[in-house]
Amino acid sequence: MASSGSGVQIGLRSVSKRYMTASGDAVDALGEIDLDVAAGEFVSIVGPSGCGKSTLMMLVSGLIPATTGTITVGGVPVKGAGGKAGIVFQRDVLLDWRTVFSNVMLPVEIKRLDKETHLKKARDLLRSVGLAEFEEKYPAELSGGMRQRVAICRALVQDPGLLLMDEPFAALDALTREQMNLDLQRIWLRDRNTVIFITHSIEEAVLLADRVVVMTSRPGRIADICVERIRRHFMALGVLSET
Ligand SMILES: Nc1ncnc2c1ncn2[C@@H]1O[C@H](COP(=O)(O)OP(=O)(O)O)[C@@H](O)[C@H]1O
Ligand SMILES: [Mg+2]
Repeated sequence: MASSGSGVQIGLRSVSKRYMTASGDAVDALGEIDLDVAAGEFVSIVGPSGCGKSTLMMLVSGLIPATTGTITVGGVPVKGAGGKAGIVFQRDVLLDWRTVFSNVMLPVEIKRLDKETHLKKARDLLRSVGLAEFEEKYPAELSGGMRQRVAICRALVQDPGLLLMDEPFAALDALTREQMNLDLQRIWLRDRNTVIFITHSIEEAVLLADRVVVMTSRPGRIADICVERIRRHFMALGVLSET
């Protein structure tokens, strides 16, 4: 829900994506999508494999251009990468030759942000996910869950306002995944970034999100938007009965 946190508002108007393959075939990956995400809102996206979820995420981050439509992040049209969005992929894509700490600081170096303020931020983030003792370790010395925590810290170090997560916990075992869900929820409740979270797990989507966007198969369109958190809230109050 909207809040006074650091999250930014997202708007998609008639956004679609057609890929052209090397052999010249057109692949309509994403149908026309209209979606508004409020500042500080947590939206999960679920849908069948190949329906364009990752495409949607890459469009919002500016990594690829939309075929039609406009996307705004914090009121500003997305043009090319280099926006402030923090991105977490299924694979953690950490740099193996850098320590945990310098992996987290990578966006700060690339974007030449003020080092001093971000050193503290990086340290605070690592501490908040229980990795304070691992700052000087290398990715190869960490478990899958720990590596993904580092990737989340790296995505958050620049106070992105928008966190894009593409099946971030899909490769983790069930227990680790549950713990990661709790960690993510805690971070979100603290910072109130806007989050777009793609998952195959409906359970995970419902647990974390204010709203769950359900997509159709390719070319993906929005099939339904469920206001799950609100439903559960009223259920907990006993106003709504479980059916
Ligand atoms: N670079 C590309 N060139 C051509 N087709 C692509 C490309 N990237 C993705 N696709 C196709 O677009 C569709 C949507 O892909 P994707 O966004 O990865 O779906 P999802 O993340 O929901 O599984 C798929 O059919 C996929 O094969
Ligand atoms: Mg995908």
